[in-house]
Amino acid sequence: MKAEQITAEEIKKKYFEFFKEKGHRIIKSESLIPEHDPTVLFTTAGMHPLVPFILGQPHPMGKRIADAQKCVRTGDIESVGDATHLTFFEMLGNWSFGDYFKKEAIEWSFEFLTNEKWLGIPIEKLAVTCFEGNSDAPRDEESAEIWMKLGIPAERIRFLPKEDNFWGPAGQTGPCGPCSEMFYWKGENNPKEFNTNDRKWVEIWNDVFMEYNKTKEGKYEMLKQKNVDTGMGLERITAMLQGKKSIYDTELFKPILEKIKSMAEKYEERSARIIADHLKAATFILGDDKKVEPSNVEQGYILRRLIRRAIRHGREIGIKENFTAETAKKVIEIYEKDYEELNKNQKFILSQLDEEENRFKKVISEGLKAAEAVFSEKTPIPAEKYIKLMQSPSHEQIIEGVWTKKKQGENYEVKEAGITENEIDKAAITGKEGFLLYQSYGFPEELIIEIAREKKLLFHRAEFAKELEKHQETSRVGAEKKFKSGLADKSEQTTKLHTATHLLNEALRRVVDKNIKQKGSNITPERLRFDFNFNRKLTPEEIKKVEDEVNGIIKKGLNVKRTEMTVEEAKKLGAQALFTEKYGERVSVYNVSGYSIEVCTGPHVKNTSELGVFKIVKEEAVSAGVRRIKAILT
Ligand code: ALA
Repeated sequence: MKAEQITAEEIKKKYFEFFKEKGHRIIKSESLIPEHDPTVLFTTAGMHPLVPFILGQPHPMGKRIADAQKCVRTGDIESVGDATHLTFFEMLGNWSFGDYFKKEAIEWSFEFLTNEKWLGIPIEKLAVTCFEGNSDAPRDEESAEIWMKLGIPAERIRFLPKEDNFWGPAGQTGPCGPCSEMFYWKGENNPKEFNTNDRKWVEIWNDVFMEYNKTKEGKYEMLKQKNVDTGMGLERITAMLQGKKSIYDTELFKPILEKIKSMAEKYEERSARIIADHLKAATFILGDDKKVEPSNVEQGYILRRLIRRAIRHGREIGIKENFTAETAKKVIEIYEKDYEELNKNQKFILSQLDEEENRFKKVISEGLKAAEAVFSEKTPIPAEKYIKLMQSPSHEQIIEGVWTKKKQGENYEVKEAGITENEIDKAAITGKEGFLLYQSYGFPEELIIEIAREKKLLFHRAEFAKELEKHQETSRVGAEKKFKSGLADKSEQTTKLHTATHLLNEALRRVVDKNIKQKGSNITPERLRFDFNFNRKLTPEEIKKVEDEVNGIIKKGLNVKRTEMTVEEAKKLGAQALFTEKYGERVSVYNVSGYSIEVCTGPHVKNTSELGVFKIVKEEAVSAGVRRIKAILT
């Protein structure tokens, strides 16, 4: 096969075939919304849902698995639109849970990348990095030697420090280890030297040798077992093998961008890329079976930000009608074969996007009225001077310079345009005024800038940024951990609430209605949240009965046991489960002896007597036919 022609789908297929030949079982992607992990909003890497198995719990499919995992990372949201940054991506990965280690992992990465039967990349276009070592973990000579034996010359092997070559933990604590990264030369001629700062050397794959566990105290302990975690971004390797300049030039984006182009009156590539990326991420978040909706908290907030940012860019390139649902249809077309949930949840995805778009339009139109009141107080800078100022390619800096000088008490005149200080004062929209619009109406900064330009006014962006920062400081501290994609310590309290969730699930069926089924669950160390199908409010008597039932089981001190079986066997046992495509052939089943049976990855307490007293603190509607219970253990 000619390298130029290989598709993302073919790469994925080859990857699975290759690792099957090496004794791996292929598992389906897990949800984008991490289960029972309160410190992180989205699944950010393939290893994320697999932490329990890296820590030593046996995986029902064995010690070698491989997959393509849906991931969302919001840390780089400002860089989206360049050649390589994305919010949503698919990560190909292969794992060893206490089975093979460095030798096999590296040999197989090498074979898959270079062998003609697989990707067929010439060795000259490959280079690798290894961990240089520090006081926590030694220099990784072993990996370097394996690469050299395979034919990578010493000058294309570099040892880099912890920032580059030590992966994890994903959060504050947990599994981590040195890694070896593979780089692909995308330049036309053969490379002269290997330098990771040269943009023509693109990182394509990362083999992590997870043998450490970082503790709360910051110590690195050896894990019970040696594991391998690898990650290869599908979008990136596709672009590289196709010889494309950017990931947006591949079939994973082209149809989406074409659709956007067909709706835009003044097309601009960067805005179109942001729209395509953000709406792809939004489509996958909405398409997840966990049914996240746009809101002002947690995952819903990120979802809202993604959709609204896409809409703003839509406005910028002159899209007049609602366009988010139309764009999402293209995303679904590309991915529905591999991710059936997109098709299944299509109606939900499209209607949520359309509703959010209408809501945001309303925000903008109300905000516009308030903005009008602020803007009408100001005196525009005379047209000629303003145009001159704006014509300067560095007008942003000049405007910033104006504010800075003014603050220093200088009678400063913008030389390039001949604008006086008085004119500046009268034309100034202050940071506070801008912030008020933002805070009261959700009115976006970009729109303030846009209108200021139309009206020949000046907007003090630096001051706005300061106001925003002051305001966000407190909320940011709390949210930081979550955005950092931290993996939770599976705290004791979370584990207890998790087991209590299983009891509640069963109690509702036994006490209230036998047709009740779980619709969703979310656990923080403070409380459990459980959604289920039911179309009326529970009565106070029912709530009391459910509490009594759960507390009765806690008192009985029943053992909680984990067993493995096939999906069929679990079904026969009557285990509670979503029974969606996401399960592998063998599943792990938690049994609260004689009371509840659920397919679940854990973790759970050993005996219900560990739980304490169960109390329901809230019962409310979430949507038509779905109720939500919040409960605590005291
Ligand atoms: N977990 C590793 C990564 O995300 C493979 O790069």
